[in-house]
Amino acid sequence: MRTQVGVIGAGPAGLVLSHLLHLQGIESIIIERRSREYVEKRVRAGVLEQATVDLLCETGVGGRLMREGLSHHGIELRFEGEAHRIPLSDLTGGRAIWIYGQQEVIKDLVTARLAAGAEIHYEVSDASVERLDTERPVIGCTLDGKRVNIECDFIAGCDGFHGICRHAIPAGVLTTYDRDYPFGWVGILAAVAPSTDELIYAFTERGFALHSLRTPELSRLYVQCDHDDRIEDWPDDRIWDELHQRLKKSDGWTLKEGPILEKGITGMRSFVAEPMQYGRMFLAGDAAHIVPPTGAKGLNLAVRDVWHLAQALVRWYRARDDAALAGYSSACLRRVWRAQDFSYWMTSMLHRFPGDDSRVSYKLQLARLAYVVTSRAAATSLAENYVGFPIED
Ligand code: APR
Ligand code: PHB
Repeated sequence: MRTQVGVIGAGPAGLVLSHLLHLQGIESIIIERRSREYVEKRVRAGVLEQATVDLLCETGVGGRLMREGLSHHGIELRFEGEAHRIPLSDLTGGRAIWIYGQQEVIKDLVTARLAAGAEIHYEVSDASVERLDTERPVIGCTLDGKRVNIECDFIAGCDGFHGICRHAIPAGVLTTYDRDYPFGWVGILAAVAPSTDELIYAFTERGFALHSLRTPELSRLYVQCDHDDRIEDWPDDRIWDELHQRLKKSDGWTLKEGPILEKGITGMRSFVAEPMQYGRMFLAGDAAHIVPPTGAKGLNLAVRDVWHLAQALVRWYRARDDAALAGYSSACLRRVWRAQDFSYWMTSMLHRFPGDDSRVSYKLQLARLAYVVTSRAAATSLAENYVGFPIED
């Protein structure tokens, strides 16, 4: 098999890349380890920045997002039983965020790609990448029981944090930065109307909680848990009990409960691999970096990476100009580190750190929250990072 750009992974990064390339007349083949059904059902994050929404709309895959997505113009910070609204749009010249599940983005992209005749191979096993430092890099994989080689001009490693691409880069090339946080999140999807119109980020002595949503009938909620907790440690009653306690508000507001449709534990880490390139292979999205979910940046960073990559590849195919490809990594990493800093800042402001037995940290976190909700300058800083920066910035 032969293609121009071989893409490993049919998550947001791989699918958006393949879509953008197709619009510029560049062909790609995507291989994906999981089944289509699995990828389309996997419940993941759900906050899209304005720039992500604009890109999806401008490239013709934003129809359902516009109909079913929920635009949000503010978020709430809740602490000491009081709600404080950060008016995102007022503070950022009208920019907004959108709530639309990642798997919905995936479904829309897959539909568009298949309608355009794309080759997406699901349930592919034993993927490998070879000859990365030559002009003919190759993806090897087992497809329908047969071993195949896909010769490419370029390979896009969009295979997530646990993929093979980053690990295929020879030792000594990458510098990695890794911080594992001493806690995680228990996340649930519940069949109940959200008890709030806007996202609530709550900080309490018991730890963090987040009330998010998906649709008028579906709520998405998270509670901070211990690093080594397993989902069995969190029966439904315990989850609701903690949510009630952490989201408690002094004015009698109550959290509505409903059947839990899905639950899982998400680890929290900040990870970056630099550079995001080796020879003719480019890493994008979670394959190169992970942010803790508190800033809601993961999907948006993945889309930003492949926007840069698509632009750079177009320049190469049009004029054999490799300047943008050479600058790909640094163009992405500037925004990656901005998002890392913001996600770390949100995370450290809103979580209890175990072992922190002095009460000083708790008081400092409260002082920081009080500052953010009373100073226009501080609130604007949160808002501009949360809604995100223009894609070409
Ligand atoms: N061969 C083929 N496919 C693979 C392989 C492999 N060896 N390893 C991983 N994959 C696939 C995974 O099954 C997954 O579908 O690569 C895909 C990577 O997708 P994501 O993990 O969604 O990563 P990305 O596209 O970078 O999107 C980042 O996803 O994790 C969330 O919050 C994160 O929103 C962010 C977004
Ligand atoms: C979600 O809705 O899944 C969500 C929202 C905000 C976050 C993280 C996840 O910061």
